[in-house]
Amino acid sequence: MYKIAVVGGDGTGPEVVREGLKVLDAVNAKFGIKMDYTHFDFGGERYMRTGELLPENAAAELMQFDAVFLGAIGHPDVKPGILEKEILLKLRFEMDQYINLRPVKLYPGVDTPLKDKTPEDIDFVIVRENTEGLYTGSGGVLKKGTPDEVAIQTSINTRKGAERCIRYAFEYTRKRNKRKTLTLCAKTNVLTFASDLWERAFHEVGEKDYPDIKRDYAHVDATTMWMVKNPEWFDVIVTDNLFGDIITDLGAMVQGGLGIAPGGSINPEGVSTFEPMGGSAPKYTGKNVVNPMAAISAAMMMLDTLGEEKAAAQIETAMVQVMQKMQSMNAGKMGFSTTQVGDMVAEAAAK
Ligand code: IPM
Ligand code: MN
Repeated sequence: MYKIAVVGGDGTGPEVVREGLKVLDAVNAKFGIKMDYTHFDFGGERYMRTGELLPENAAAELMQFDAVFLGAIGHPDVKPGILEKEILLKLRFEMDQYINLRPVKLYPGVDTPLKDKTPEDIDFVIVRENTEGLYTGSGGVLKKGTPDEVAIQTSINTRKGAERCIRYAFEYTRKRNKRKTLTLCAKTNVLTFASDLWERAFHEVGEKDYPDIKRDYAHVDATTMWMVKNPEWFDVIVTDNLFGDIITDLGAMVQGGLGIAPGGSINPEGVSTFEPMGGSAPKYTGKNVVNPMAAISAAMMMLDTLGEEKAAAQIETAMVQVMQKMQSMNAGKMGFSTTQVGDMVAEAAAK
């Protein structure tokens, strides 16, 4: 019996999570997997209502589960930065989810803005460090609002933090067994302290423990070019927190949009969170028009990470069948409603 914490969250989060659970139920029944869901109301909605961002013990409580399934956190009436920092990043940090895993895969029947690229060309995975870098909130401001204002935002890079992320990426590349190539994405020509630490860790770990994996390097600016021009060059990319944030959104577009892009904040030794990357999309709330495919895909990643690989593969097959019937991956243009897409994937997954 898997204990799953479900955080529907804000906006369209609960709508897409509902479809994800529908598909999980269908595939679980087929494979004899038992899952128990406990719902939490964390998010901007709850904050507006109660004034509380997260209960004191939220992370500790979530760590009692086997995994967390998250919809979206974000509210148009809350100033940017509050929910992000005090809910999303806080949980990532406190649960020590040091990997952000973002598969970039173009499925058959899905449109990519990249001319002449096919599913064969677009199939790579980004491993983003998820607890350090510019995301730690380290720094400060002096003389705010005056002409002499000084703002310092420090990128924290520890050898341990970089190395554990790099090791995960090597392991992942080996297990994936595709092109056996891991690309470090950094900026060694300018960030001669931070990227240098990453680069040395990358080559030391790779040389010693992963001689079977080819090591490649690309500056982050060049990475954005290659992701558009030659996405087929990539197998697995490992990078720091901010670079990872930026290139994963580019990845989402390349694979057909936020409507189908899933992600996981992973603690390989602990509890991980799986979510669609589309955000709360407030203008579509309650309209039954957003694409639940990213949430369904996040559910698939969750099963895969829990070790239920066959059930995960079954979801993927079902997704591919349904995506080929959809007119578009974008909200309101799918040719189906949110619930219809969920129903179709659930039905295909149950077969
Ligand atoms: C993501 C998001 C978050 C991030 C935001 C919402 C804090 O963009 O998961 O990629 O920057 O990590
Ligand atoms: Mn992001």
